[in-house]
Amino acid sequence: MAESVSTKMEGPSVAFKGKKFRVAIIGCGGIAQAHLNAFKNIPEVEIVAGVDIDANRLVVMRDKWGVPEENLFGADIKTGKKISDTAWIEMMKKVKPDAVDVCTPNGVHCAPIVYCCERGAHGFVEKPMAMNPAECEKMIAAAKKGKVKLSVGFQHRYRPACESLIEARKNGVFGDILFVKVRALRRRGIPNWGVFGQKELQGGGPMIDIGVHMIECAYEFMGCPKPVAAMGNIWTYIGNKKDKTNVRSMWPGWDWKTYTVEDLAIGQIRFDNGAIMQIEASFAAHIKENEVHEFSAMGTKGGCHFPSAEIYTDQNNTMVNVTPAWMDSKGEEWNVLFTKKLQNWVNGCRKGTELDASGEDGLNVQKILCGLYAAAAAGKEIAIK
Ligand SMILES: NC(=O)c1ccc[n+]([C@@H]2O[C@H](COP(=O)([O-])OP(=O)(O)OC[C@H]3O[C@@H](n4cnc5c(N)ncnc54)[C@H](O)[C@@H]3O)[C@@H](O)[C@H]2O)c1
Repeated sequence: MAESVSTKMEGPSVAFKGKKFRVAIIGCGGIAQAHLNAFKNIPEVEIVAGVDIDANRLVVMRDKWGVPEENLFGADIKTGKKISDTAWIEMMKKVKPDAVDVCTPNGVHCAPIVYCCERGAHGFVEKPMAMNPAECEKMIAAAKKGKVKLSVGFQHRYRPACESLIEARKNGVFGDILFVKVRALRRRGIPNWGVFGQKELQGGGPMIDIGVHMIECAYEFMGCPKPVAAMGNIWTYIGNKKDKTNVRSMWPGWDWKTYTVEDLAIGQIRFDNGAIMQIEASFAAHIKENEVHEFSAMGTKGGCHFPSAEIYTDQNNTMVNVTPAWMDSKGEEWNVLFTKKLQNWVNGCRKGTELDASGEDGLNVQKILCGLYAAAAAGKEIAIK
């Protein structure tokens, strides 16, 4: 029997006796490496296969993560050539994993999840769940058909500040939450790798790519009310301009020719309880800071800010600002957050425990994202069904 990959990974030598949970990685690029590092902390997981259209990514799966070459699909390591855009089909037939972890670009989330989940493999998919709500619904239906679990890669809800504010909301500190302002803004941070500027592969720009994180975090904080209407607008004024690609910034030289997404998205979502979420998301915007990822909330009894976890309320006939005395900075580390989200999924699949970020949660967040894009296209407020 081949040695299990998890014993080959560097990392904690936590022994696990029993049947391993056999996971195939589909899309072995940047974020997959964060997943693989996190899986080192989940000893019941064995990485049994890798699928990618880029042979270099498969070489990493073989050489760094110890996946046998016969279990690598999608490209030919010897010739360096792509073999298939749908190599998860062959992988499922040959390897029959317990689960697939999909880390492909947004436009390649739905197809592998639908195929693999319908055939009985549990599914994990990176954020955003898909390109639009219709794809999310297909993915949820496939998981139901295959009687498997489906989880979405949202990790910011596990940040200590977010957990603390969610606890405060559950304790009634804010009363009814009326208004939440979400900001995910980069002054000049258009990715100069991947396909983040290509609308047909990503579904959108900064709002679907980075806005999604703060939206998800704030939405979870609010207690997941039902979104019912959206309005907003999007603008592109820098990403598609050649002369802007050399401005000194963290990621200059992006591919302006293929850039079809927005630089800036601004919008509002109305929920069935009357609450409003305002969203600001940008890859490029003329703001003071280089980067901002935050939300603030106002309720009938109190308000707050994330990630400071400050609370604004009245105590003893005095308006007070409550600041945490200590927050676990280790809990902010990516490896910790990714381990938490993947462990929650693995537990759900193996032990039937509740998923923190289910397919239905992913669908609601997608309705917010796509509602705002649809309102921008329509030039008026639209209903979210
Ligand atoms: N949770 C987070 O914080 C976080 C952070 C970054 C990215 N992401 C998400 O992860 C996903 C991937 O992003 P990334 O940064 O890793 O991008 P990436 O470009 O580094 O990796 C994507 C990989 O998918 C491969 N791929 C493309 N089409 C394929 C196909 N048909 N079959 C198999 N492989 C295919 C590419 O060759 C590439 O190796 C995106 O959905 C992104 O939104 C999440």
